[in-house]
Amino acid sequence: MSTDDTTTNDASTETESKCGASTSESEASTESKCGGTTTETAETTSDSKCGGSSSSSSSNGCGGSSGDDEEEVGATVDDFDADPGQLVAVGLGPGQPEGMTDRAKTALAEAEHIVGYTTYVDLLPDEITEAAEDIYDTPMCGEVSRTEEAIDRALAGNDVAIIGSGDPNVYALAGLALEIVESKGATASMLDFDVVPGVPAAQSCAARVGAPLVNDTVSISLSDHLTDMPTIESRLHAVAKEGFTISIYNPWSRKRRENFEKCCEILLEHRDPETPVGVVHAAGREDEEVEIVDLEDLPELGETDLIDMTTTILVGNEDTYVWDDRMVTPRGYETKYDY
Ligand SMILES: C[S@@+](CC[C@H](N)C(=O)[O-])C[C@H]1O[C@@H](n2cnc3c(N)ncnc32)[C@H](O)[C@@H]1O
Repeated sequence: MSTDDTTTNDASTETESKCGASTSESEASTESKCGGTTTETAETTSDSKCGGSSSSSSSNGCGGSSGDDEEEVGATVDDFDADPGQLVAVGLGPGQPEGMTDRAKTALAEAEHIVGYTTYVDLLPDEITEAAEDIYDTPMCGEVSRTEEAIDRALAGNDVAIIGSGDPNVYALAGLALEIVESKGATASMLDFDVVPGVPAAQSCAARVGAPLVNDTVSISLSDHLTDMPTIESRLHAVAKEGFTISIYNPWSRKRRENFEKCCEILLEHRDPETPVGVVHAAGREDEEVEIVDLEDLPELGETDLIDMTTTILVGNEDTYVWDDRMVTPRGYETKYDY
């Protein structure tokens, strides 16, 4: 799925990356192709360990009509002379600093370079951004270019953290990072590649509506950027039919209106219209909004501000009920114990 799905795609400004593979031995920069901005927060860049010799870190800009599909990996491991630094994928959790794990904060404090989508960089505590030597952020696009930028910086000798919301293993960049490292002829071990987990949106959102996900649960993303819609529909049918609770990621965008409508249709085909559904927008952030509704009322919420690309939808199973404004999904204890 798209890790950074979007309804807007502002990549008009190309700025220079300070540490992709470069065309000379100097600290010369190559142009980032992803509209990223690089922010030097340390005193000097003269000791920045760039040093690859390829011509570019990525072949495609973002924001063009070609999209990410044409992004290609540029520099290979042989283009870098330096001893590699470390690459760590860090999950930030829902967004606010207090939702980050101590381990994530430590990993970011230790990173020389931080790479991420601008919205996530903006969520970082000041002490982390101020301490970083360099921050490279891009608007909501070009996740391949951005991930490659992080890898090239690590291959050039810098300790790099690539950040994302929630957990790096949930519709996020951890897998893409490993795939690109492999395609460059490098290895994960060479970069001491590590993943620092974060609280995934499904869990942050579940916490806001009580206990909706305590039994078998499946996550589905409605983004058809990387998985086609017929496949998503067929998975939704299977999951809804089998009675799992469901956490729905990437539920809505202007481009994805029909996907949301189709999803509601499929859910209503298999589930009672009164099935409780938790709708959580921007959990843990300033614009957080939470509602519990009946499944039959979900479709009309698609046109409201409650459901957008920062919303996760939690659909109860046949046993889920609402009590005291909380969703409760029994775990099954009631079948074994008296209470
Ligand atoms: C690209 S996925 C990233 C998921 C992330 N890696 C995780 O573990 O939660 C983006 C989707 O996560 C969900 N999401 C991320 N942050 C959220 C938040 N603070 N509140 C509600 N949903 C959120 C939304 O469904 C959004 O469309």
